[in-house]
Amino acid sequence: MAEKKLGVLVHGAGWVSTQHIAAFAKNPHTRVVAVSSRKLASAVKRADEAGLRDVGLYDSLDKALKHEGVDIVSVCTPQHLHAENTIAAAEAGKHIVIEKPIANSLDEMRAMRKAVRKAGVRTIVSFVLRWNPLFETIKAMVADDALGKIYYVETDYEHDIGSWWSGYDDARKASTGVSALLVGGCHAVDACRWFAAQGRYEAADPVEVFAYRGGWRKGSDTEFNYLTNQFLKTDKPMEYDGLEVVLLKFASGAVGKVSVNADCVMPYTFPIEVFGDKGTIRDNRIWSHKFPGQKSWVTLPTILPDSADVTHHPFQGQMDHFVECILAGRESHCNLDDAIKTHEVVFAAQRCYETNAPVRLPLLGE
Ligand SMILES: NC(=O)c1ccc[n+]([C@@H]2O[C@H](COP(=O)([O-])OP(=O)(O)OC[C@H]3O[C@@H](n4cnc5c(N)ncnc54)[C@H](OP(=O)(O)O)[C@@H]3O)[C@@H](O)[C@H]2O)c1
Repeated sequence: MAEKKLGVLVHGAGWVSTQHIAAFAKNPHTRVVAVSSRKLASAVKRADEAGLRDVGLYDSLDKALKHEGVDIVSVCTPQHLHAENTIAAAEAGKHIVIEKPIANSLDEMRAMRKAVRKAGVRTIVSFVLRWNPLFETIKAMVADDALGKIYYVETDYEHDIGSWWSGYDDARKASTGVSALLVGGCHAVDACRWFAAQGRYEAADPVEVFAYRGGWRKGSDTEFNYLTNQFLKTDKPMEYDGLEVVLLKFASGAVGKVSVNADCVMPYTFPIEVFGDKGTIRDNRIWSHKFPGQKSWVTLPTILPDSADVTHHPFQGQMDHFVECILAGRESHCNLDDAIKTHEVVFAAQRCYETNAPVRLPLLGE
Protein backbone atom coordinates (compact mmCIF):
# COMPACT_ATOMS: atom_id res chain seq x y z
CA MET A 1 0.00 0.00 0.00
CA ALA A 2 1.26 3.51 -0.84
CA GLU A 3 2.54 5.51 2.14
CA LYS A 4 0.16 8.24 3.34
CA LYS A 5 2.06 11.47 2.92
CA LEU A 6 2.12 14.16 5.58
CA GLY A 7 -0.07 17.07 4.44
CA VAL A 8 1.46 20.57 4.55
CA LEU A 9 -0.34 23.92 4.83
CA VAL A 10 1.80 26.92 3.88
CA HIS A 11 0.51 30.16 5.43
CA GLY A 12 1.64 33.62 4.17
CA ALA A 13 2.08 33.42 0.40
CA GLY A 14 5.08 35.72 0.00
CA TRP A 15 8.75 35.44 -0.95
CA VAL A 16 9.97 32.78 1.47
CA SER A 17 6.86 30.62 1.00
CA THR A 18 8.05 29.77 -2.52
CA GLN A 19 10.94 27.81 -1.02
CA HIS A 20 8.87 26.13 1.71
CA ILE A 21 6.46 24.91 -0.97
CA ALA A 22 9.28 23.75 -3.26
CA ALA A 23 11.02 21.84 -0.44
CA PHE A 24 7.87 20.08 0.80
CA ALA A 25 6.81 19.29 -2.79
CA LYS A 26 10.16 17.56 -3.32
CA ASN A 27 10.26 15.62 -0.05
CA PRO A 28 9.03 12.05 -0.71
CA HIS A 29 7.00 11.93 2.54
CA THR A 30 5.06 15.22 2.22
CA ARG A 31 2.50 16.85 -0.03
CA VAL A 32 1.40 20.50 0.02
CA VAL A 33 -2.37 20.24 0.53
CA ALA A 34 -3.26 23.88 1.28
CA VAL A 35 -1.99 27.45 0.89
CA SER A 36 -3.41 30.43 2.76
CA SER A 37 -2.65 34.12 2.92
CA ARG A 38 -4.22 37.48 3.79
CA LYS A 39 -5.33 37.79 0.17
CA LEU A 40 -6.87 34.76 -1.50
CA ALA A 41 -5.36 35.93 -4.81
CA SER A 42 -1.85 35.57 -3.33
CA ALA A 43 -2.53 31.98 -2.27
CA VAL A 44 -3.96 31.18 -5.71
CA LYS A 45 -0.97 32.73 -7.48
CA ARG A 46 1.56 30.90 -5.29
CA ALA A 47 -0.16 27.53 -5.85
CA ASP A 48 -0.40 28.13 -9.62
CA GLU A 49 3.24 29.10 -9.91
CA ALA A 50 4.28 26.00 -7.99
CA GLY A 51 2.05 23.77 -10.16
CA LEU A 52 0.13 22.46 -7.13
CA ARG A 53 -2.94 20.33 -7.86
CA ASP A 54 -5.94 19.52 -5.63
CA VAL A 55 -4.87 22.13 -3.13
CA GLY A 56 -7.07 24.06 -0.68
CA LEU A 57 -6.80 27.84 -1.02
CA TYR A 58 -7.83 30.13 1.83
CA ASP A 59 -7.76 33.75 2.96
CA SER A 60 -7.41 32.92 6.65
CA LEU A 61 -5.41 30.57 8.82
CA ASP A 62 -8.47 29.54 10.83
CA LYS A 63 -10.26 28.31 7.70
CA ALA A 64 -7.11 26.63 6.34
CA LEU A 65 -6.45 24.77 9.61
CA LYS A 66 -9.78 22.99 9.10
CA HIS A 67 -8.65 21.65 5.70
CA GLU A 68 -8.69 17.84 5.65
CA GLY A 69 -5.28 16.18 6.00
CA VAL A 70 -3.09 19.01 7.31
CA ASP A 71 -0.28 17.59 9.50
CA ILE A 72 2.33 20.37 9.21
CA VAL A 73 1.86 24.16 9.09
CA SER A 74 4.58 26.42 7.65
CA VAL A 75 4.30 29.91 9.13
CA CYS A 76 5.62 32.30 6.45
CA THR A 77 3.81 35.51 7.45
CA PRO A 78 5.56 38.71 8.62
CA GLN A 79 7.22 38.29 12.04
CA HIS A 80 4.62 40.17 14.13
CA LEU A 81 2.14 37.39 13.22
CA HIS A 82 4.39 34.41 14.00
CA ALA A 83 3.33 34.06 17.64
CA GLU A 84 -0.43 34.07 17.00
CA ASN A 85 -0.05 31.82 13.93
CA THR A 86 2.13 29.34 15.83
CA ILE A 87 -0.26 29.22 18.78
CA ALA A 88 -3.24 28.64 16.47
CA ALA A 89 -1.41 25.84 14.64
CA ALA A 90 -0.32 24.20 17.92
CA GLU A 91 -3.86 24.37 19.32
CA ALA A 92 -5.03 22.64 16.14
CA GLY A 93 -2.48 19.86 16.86
CA LYS A 94 -0.19 20.52 13.87
CA HIS A 95 3.60 20.23 13.65
CA ILE A 96 5.01 23.68 12.83
CA VAL A 97 7.74 25.30 10.74
CA ILE A 98 8.23 28.80 12.14
CA GLU A 99 10.00 31.41 10.06
CA LYS A 100 12.52 33.56 11.88
CA PRO A 101 12.23 35.76 13.84
CA ILE A 102 9.84 33.68 15.91
CA ALA A 103 8.36 36.52 17.95
CA ASN A 104 8.52 40.22 18.78
CA SER A 105 8.73 39.92 22.57
CA LEU A 106 9.57 37.63 25.49
CA ASP A 107 5.88 37.37 26.34
CA GLU A 108 5.07 36.13 22.84
CA MET A 109 7.81 33.50 23.09
CA ARG A 110 6.50 32.37 26.48
CA ALA A 111 2.98 31.95 25.09
CA MET A 112 4.24 30.05 22.03
CA ARG A 113 6.28 27.69 24.18
CA LYS A 114 3.30 27.01 26.44
CA ALA A 115 1.01 26.21 23.49
CA VAL A 116 3.58 23.96 21.79
CA ARG A 117 4.35 22.06 25.01
CA LYS A 118 0.66 21.59 25.76
CA ALA A 119 -0.04 20.28 22.24
CA GLY A 120 3.08 18.05 22.16
CA VAL A 121 3.73 18.94 18.51
CA ARG A 122 7.16 19.16 16.81
CA THR A 123 8.62 22.49 15.72
CA ILE A 124 11.48 23.75 13.61
CA VAL A 125 12.60 27.36 13.25
CA SER A 126 14.05 28.49 9.92
CA PHE A 127 17.63 29.08 10.98
CA VAL A 128 18.19 27.59 7.58
CA LEU A 129 21.91 28.39 7.48
CA ARG A 130 22.50 25.40 9.76
CA TRP A 131 22.05 23.41 6.50
CA ASN A 132 24.37 25.61 4.40
CA PRO A 133 27.27 23.42 3.14
CA LEU A 134 29.97 25.64 4.73
CA PHE A 135 28.10 25.58 8.05
CA GLU A 136 27.76 21.79 7.85
CA THR A 137 31.47 21.40 7.06
CA ILE A 138 32.57 23.68 9.91
CA LYS A 139 30.31 21.86 12.39
CA ALA A 140 31.62 18.47 11.26
CA MET A 141 35.22 19.69 11.60
CA VAL A 142 34.59 21.16 15.07
CA ALA A 143 32.94 17.90 16.18
CA ASP A 144 35.96 16.02 14.77
CA ASP A 145 38.35 18.07 16.96
CA ALA A 146 39.91 19.90 13.97
CA LEU A 147 39.86 23.13 15.98
CA GLY A 148 40.14 21.72 19.50
CA LYS A 149 38.22 23.51 22.23
CA ILE A 150 36.34 26.52 20.83
CA TYR A 151 37.06 29.70 22.80
CA TYR A 152 35.95 32.51 20.45
CA VAL A 153 33.45 32.92 17.58
CA GLU A 154 32.61 35.95 15.45
CA THR A 155 29.62 36.07 13.09
CA ASP A 156 28.20 39.08 11.27
CA TYR A 157 25.00 39.63 9.29
CA GLU A 158 25.98 42.48 6.96
CA HIS A 159 22.97 43.11 4.80
CA ASP A 160 21.48 46.36 3.55
CA ILE A 161 17.83 45.35 3.99
CA GLY A 162 15.69 47.86 2.07
CA SER A 163 12.70 48.60 -0.09
CA TRP A 164 13.72 45.95 -2.66
CA TRP A 165 12.39 43.39 -0.12
CA SER A 166 8.64 42.56 -0.23
CA GLY A 167 8.63 42.26 3.58
CA TYR A 168 10.46 45.57 4.18
CA ASP A 169 7.53 47.80 5.09
CA ASP A 170 6.60 45.63 8.09
CA ALA A 171 10.21 44.87 8.98
CA ARG A 172 11.47 48.48 8.99
CA LYS A 173 8.95 49.68 11.61
CA ALA A 174 9.74 49.55 15.32
CA SER A 175 6.20 48.33 16.05
CA THR A 176 6.39 45.29 13.76
CA GLY A 177 10.12 44.74 13.08
CA VAL A 178 11.44 45.78 16.54
CA SER A 179 15.20 45.81 15.78
CA ALA A 180 17.80 45.02 13.11
CA LEU A 181 19.15 42.23 15.31
CA LEU A 182 15.70 40.65 15.41
CA VAL A 183 14.80 41.09 11.72
CA GLY A 184 18.01 39.72 10.17
CA GLY A 185 20.75 39.64 12.79
CA CYS A 186 19.14 36.68 14.56
CA HIS A 187 20.75 34.53 11.83
CA ALA A 188 24.19 35.68 13.04
CA VAL A 189 23.29 35.15 16.72
CA ASP A 190 22.16 31.64 15.88
CA ALA A 191 25.35 30.97 13.88
CA CYS A 192 27.49 32.16 16.80
CA ARG A 193 25.68 29.76 19.17
CA TRP A 194 26.00 26.96 16.59
CA PHE A 195 29.76 27.30 16.09
CA ALA A 196 30.52 27.88 19.78
CA ALA A 197 29.24 24.40 20.68
CA GLN A 198 31.52 21.36 20.27
CA GLY A 199 28.77 18.87 19.37
CA ARG A 200 27.77 18.17 15.76
CA TYR A 201 24.10 18.97 16.39
CA GLU A 202 24.39 21.30 19.37
CA ALA A 203 24.15 25.08 19.83
CA ALA A 204 25.84 26.79 22.78
CA ASP A 205 23.95 28.27 25.74
CA PRO A 206 24.49 32.03 26.15
CA VAL A 207 24.77 33.16 29.79
CA GLU A 208 25.59 36.87 29.45
CA VAL A 209 25.17 39.63 26.84
CA PHE A 210 26.43 43.17 26.39
CA ALA A 211 25.59 45.30 23.35
CA TYR A 212 25.98 48.68 21.64
CA ARG A 213 23.97 50.09 18.76
CA GLY A 214 24.62 52.85 16.20
CA GLY A 215 25.01 53.42 12.47
CA TRP A 216 23.55 56.14 10.23
CA ARG A 217 20.31 54.90 8.74
CA LYS A 218 17.73 55.23 11.52
CA GLY A 219 15.19 57.87 10.36
CA SER A 220 17.26 58.64 7.25
CA ASP A 221 15.59 59.44 3.92
CA THR A 222 18.49 57.74 2.13
CA GLU A 223 18.80 54.05 1.40
CA PHE A 224 21.47 52.11 -0.47
CA ASN A 225 20.28 49.34 -2.78
CA TYR A 226 23.12 46.86 -3.15
CA LEU A 227 21.31 44.97 -5.91
CA THR A 228 21.45 48.02 -8.22
CA ASN A 229 24.41 49.75 -6.51
CA GLN A 230 22.42 52.96 -6.11
CA PHE A 231 21.56 55.40 -3.34
CA LEU A 232 17.79 56.10 -3.26
CA LYS A 233 15.55 58.63 -1.56
CA THR A 234 12.85 57.01 0.56
CA ASP A 235 9.84 58.10 2.61
CA LYS A 236 10.00 54.76 4.45
CA PRO A 237 12.93 55.14 6.83
CA MET A 238 14.15 52.42 9.14
CA GLU A 239 12.72 53.19 12.59
CA TYR A 240 15.54 51.55 14.58
CA ASP A 241 19.33 51.50 14.49
CA GLY A 242 20.80 49.50 11.62
CA LEU A 243 23.99 48.57 13.49
CA GLU A 244 24.08 46.45 16.64
CA VAL A 245 27.21 44.86 18.09
CA VAL A 246 26.78 42.18 20.73
CA LEU A 247 29.26 40.45 23.02
CA LEU A 248 28.26 37.05 24.36
CA LYS A 249 29.54 34.78 27.05
CA PHE A 250 28.62 31.10 26.76
CA ALA A 251 28.18 28.51 29.52
CA SER A 252 31.30 26.71 28.19
CA GLY A 253 33.39 29.86 28.83
CA ALA A 254 33.64 30.63 25.10
CA VAL A 255 33.13 34.25 24.03
CA GLY A 256 31.22 35.44 20.96
CA LYS A 257 30.91 38.67 19.01
CA VAL A 258 27.92 39.15 16.75
CA SER A 259 26.93 42.13 14.66
CA VAL A 260 24.05 43.07 12.44
CA ASN A 261 24.80 45.84 9.97
CA ALA A 262 21.84 46.93 7.86
CA ASP A 263 23.60 50.26 7.19
CA CYS A 264 26.46 48.76 5.18
CA VAL A 265 27.15 50.05 1.68
CA MET A 266 28.23 46.83 0.03
CA PRO A 267 26.76 43.51 -1.12
CA TYR A 268 25.40 40.93 1.36
CA THR A 269 28.14 39.33 3.46
CA PHE A 270 28.10 36.79 6.29
CA PRO A 271 31.67 36.48 7.62
CA ILE A 272 32.51 33.69 10.08
CA GLU A 273 35.53 33.26 12.37
CA VAL A 274 35.88 30.30 14.73
CA PHE A 275 38.92 30.01 17.03
CA GLY A 276 39.86 26.85 18.93
CA ASP A 277 42.97 25.82 20.86
CA LYS A 278 44.06 23.55 17.95
CA GLY A 279 42.91 25.49 14.88
CA THR A 280 41.03 28.37 13.28
CA ILE A 281 38.41 28.82 10.57
CA ARG A 282 37.93 32.08 8.68
CA ASP A 283 34.98 31.59 6.30
CA ASN A 284 36.10 28.67 4.11
CA ARG A 285 39.79 28.85 5.09
CA ILE A 286 41.15 26.43 7.67
CA TRP A 287 44.23 26.22 9.85
CA SER A 288 44.30 22.99 11.84
CA HIS A 289 46.53 20.63 13.81
CA LYS A 290 45.01 17.97 11.52
CA PHE A 291 47.20 19.31 8.66
CA PRO A 292 50.78 18.85 9.95
CA GLY A 293 53.32 20.97 8.04
CA GLN A 294 50.57 23.27 6.78
CA LYS A 295 52.17 26.30 5.13
CA SER A 296 49.16 28.29 4.04
CA TRP A 297 45.40 28.30 4.58
CA VAL A 298 43.51 25.27 3.30
CA THR A 299 40.56 26.60 1.29
CA LEU A 300 37.33 24.64 0.93
CA PRO A 301 35.63 25.02 -2.45
CA THR A 302 32.10 24.88 -1.05
CA ILE A 303 28.87 26.92 -1.02
CA LEU A 304 29.25 29.91 1.27
CA PRO A 305 26.46 31.85 3.03
CA ASP A 306 27.00 34.68 0.56
CA SER A 307 23.51 35.41 -0.76
CA ALA A 308 20.28 36.74 0.73
CA ASP A 309 18.22 35.21 -2.08
CA VAL A 310 15.82 32.64 -0.67
CA THR A 311 16.47 30.39 -3.69
CA HIS A 312 20.09 30.13 -2.48
CA HIS A 313 19.07 29.06 1.04
CA PRO A 314 19.15 25.31 1.87
CA PHE A 315 15.45 24.97 2.75
CA GLN A 316 15.44 21.44 1.28
CA GLY A 317 17.90 20.27 3.93
CA GLN A 318 15.93 21.98 6.70
CA MET A 319 12.55 20.54 5.67
CA ASP A 320 13.96 17.05 4.99
CA HIS A 321 15.46 17.08 8.50
CA PHE A 322 12.14 18.21 10.01
CA VAL A 323 10.18 15.48 8.24
CA GLU A 324 12.73 12.92 9.47
CA CYS A 325 12.24 14.23 13.04
CA ILE A 326 8.44 13.95 12.76
CA LEU A 327 8.58 10.44 11.33
CA ALA A 328 11.13 9.30 13.94
CA GLY A 329 9.24 11.01 16.79
CA ARG A 330 12.20 13.13 17.93
CA GLU A 331 12.92 16.82 18.44
CA SER A 332 15.00 18.92 16.04
CA HIS A 333 18.15 20.63 17.31
CA CYS A 334 16.57 23.75 15.81
CA ASN A 335 13.19 23.56 17.56
CA LEU A 336 11.27 26.33 19.31
CA ASP A 337 13.01 25.77 22.68
CA ASP A 338 16.42 26.12 21.03
CA ALA A 339 15.40 29.16 18.96
CA ILE A 340 14.18 30.88 22.12
CA LYS A 341 17.81 30.88 23.33
CA THR A 342 18.87 32.71 20.15
CA HIS A 343 16.05 35.25 20.45
CA GLU A 344 16.74 35.87 24.14
CA VAL A 345 20.10 37.32 23.07
CA VAL A 346 18.24 39.82 20.84
CA PHE A 347 15.91 40.88 23.65
CA ALA A 348 18.82 41.02 26.12
CA ALA A 349 20.59 43.45 23.76
CA GLN A 350 17.47 45.65 23.83
CA ARG A 351 17.57 45.60 27.63
CA CYS A 352 21.27 46.56 27.54
CA TYR A 353 20.51 49.74 25.59
CA GLU A 354 18.24 50.81 28.46
CA THR A 355 20.42 49.79 31.41
CA ASN A 356 23.97 50.06 29.99
CA ALA A 357 24.78 46.93 31.95
CA PRO A 358 25.44 43.29 30.99
CA VAL A 359 22.32 41.10 30.99
CA ARG A 360 22.32 37.57 32.42
CA LEU A 361 20.52 34.81 30.52
CA PRO A 362 18.20 32.95 30.31
CA LEU A 363 15.44 35.53 30.46
CA LEU A 364 12.35 33.32 30.15
CA GLY A 365 13.00 30.72 32.82
CA GLU A 366 11.19 27.37 32.64
N1 LIG B 1 14.87 31.95 6.93
C1 LIG B 1 15.24 32.84 6.03
O1 LIG B 1 16.38 32.85 5.59
C2 LIG B 1 14.23 33.84 5.55
C3 LIG B 1 14.35 34.44 4.28
C4 LIG B 1 13.36 35.37 3.90
C5 LIG B 1 12.33 35.70 4.77
N2 LIG B 1 12.29 35.11 5.99
C6 LIG B 1 11.23 35.45 6.95
O2 LIG B 1 9.99 34.98 6.48
C7 LIG B 1 8.94 35.85 6.86
C8 LIG B 1 8.20 36.32 5.61
O3 LIG B 1 9.13 37.01 4.80
P1 LIG B 1 8.93 37.20 3.21
O4 LIG B 1 10.24 37.69 2.72
O5 LIG B 1 8.34 36.01 2.61
O6 LIG B 1 7.89 38.40 3.25
P2 LIG B 1 6.70 38.70 2.21
O7 LIG B 1 7.17 38.46 0.82
O8 LIG B 1 6.17 40.04 2.58
O9 LIG B 1 5.63 37.57 2.53
C9 LIG B 1 4.79 37.56 3.65
C10 LIG B 1 3.39 37.26 3.14
O10 LIG B 1 2.51 37.16 4.26
C11 LIG B 1 1.23 37.58 3.85
N3 LIG B 1 0.57 38.29 4.95
C12 LIG B 1 0.79 39.53 5.40
N4 LIG B 1 -0.04 39.82 6.42
C13 LIG B 1 -0.80 38.71 6.58
C14 LIG B 1 -1.86 38.38 7.46
N5 LIG B 1 -2.31 39.25 8.36
N6 LIG B 1 -2.40 37.15 7.35
C15 LIG B 1 -1.97 36.27 6.43
N7 LIG B 1 -0.98 36.53 5.57
C16 LIG B 1 -0.41 37.74 5.65
C17 LIG B 1 1.39 38.52 2.67
O11 LIG B 1 0.58 38.00 1.62
P3 LIG B 1 -0.70 38.75 0.99
O12 LIG B 1 -0.33 38.95 -0.43
O13 LIG B 1 -1.78 37.75 1.19
O14 LIG B 1 -0.96 40.05 1.71
C18 LIG B 1 2.86 38.38 2.27
O15 LIG B 1 3.01 38.04 0.92
C19 LIG B 1 9.61 36.99 7.64
O16 LIG B 1 9.56 36.72 9.01
C20 LIG B 1 11.04 36.93 7.17
O17 LIG B 1 12.00 37.41 8.13
C21 LIG B 1 13.20 34.20 6.39
